[in-house]
Amino acid sequence: MRLIIQPNYEKVSEWVGNYVAGKIKKYNPGPQNRFVLGLPTGSSPIGMYKQLIKLNQEKYVSFKYCTTFNMDEYVGLAEEHPQSYHYFMHSNFFNHIDINKDYINILNGNAPDLEAECEAYEEKIARSGGINLFIGGIGPDGHIAFNEPGSSLGSLTRVKTLTMDTIIANSRFFDNDVNAVPRTALTVGVKTVLDADEVLIIITGHQKARALSKVVEEGLNHMWTVSALQMHPKGIIVCDDASTVELRVGTVNYFKDIESENLDPESQLI
Ligand code: GLP
Repeated sequence: MRLIIQPNYEKVSEWVGNYVAGKIKKYNPGPQNRFVLGLPTGSSPIGMYKQLIKLNQEKYVSFKYCTTFNMDEYVGLAEEHPQSYHYFMHSNFFNHIDINKDYINILNGNAPDLEAECEAYEEKIARSGGINLFIGGIGPDGHIAFNEPGSSLGSLTRVKTLTMDTIIANSRFFDNDVNAVPRTALTVGVKTVLDADEVLIIITGHQKARALSKVVEEGLNHMWTVSALQMHPKGIIVCDDASTVELRVGTVNYFKDIESENLDPESQLI
């Protein structure tokens, strides 16, 4: 696993935006050879989306031949609700780039048969040839997508009940009203994420420091589902200094040292 440590949120966003754009460019997608992205919502990726919008508007990268699959969606929230992940993705990203909207995939949390919806999502990912790059964030309890503590590390897309920790954390988007936060969500599974060719996780801020130390310094554990990244052949975490406060100084120095040798052409905007 690579751990890229940047000084702050802005630098993390710029690094990740450049990296993702670089990956798409290198792949050189076309109508028969689309680049498939797995995408997250939340505050962590907003800066990355801004950087990608900028690079798209500057014609550095195009999303014309990208297919996207979002990680998760609340159950029972209308798509036009400002806190739905449909709304988030369109207002923070899709409405500002040259993507063909027919190739945007987001789980339907209002589907009449939620289980069938989840099964069909997995099938669609497979039909698209699998995900080239899955980008994610984490909750303070180390959950990835909505794979709450205790989720099977072999899980696929399904309905999940949210924990009180997540409901409280996400109530900041619902006027701090915990009762307004949906109790269930549809989410890709841990295995769905791990099946991607490459996985990149954004971790920023003090509130994620404990989770970062669990995934970097401790073992594989279903109570910190992001730790499954340890099993991925191409896993990258991009984090800021603030999130490293629970890591040992030696660990931080180690990763800073080995990453100083890595030029990462994709993140250099060439
Ligand atoms: C929700 C989402 C996760 C996201 C997490 C963290 O729980 N289901 O995919 O990673 O929030 O959000 P934030 O980036 O706002 O801290």
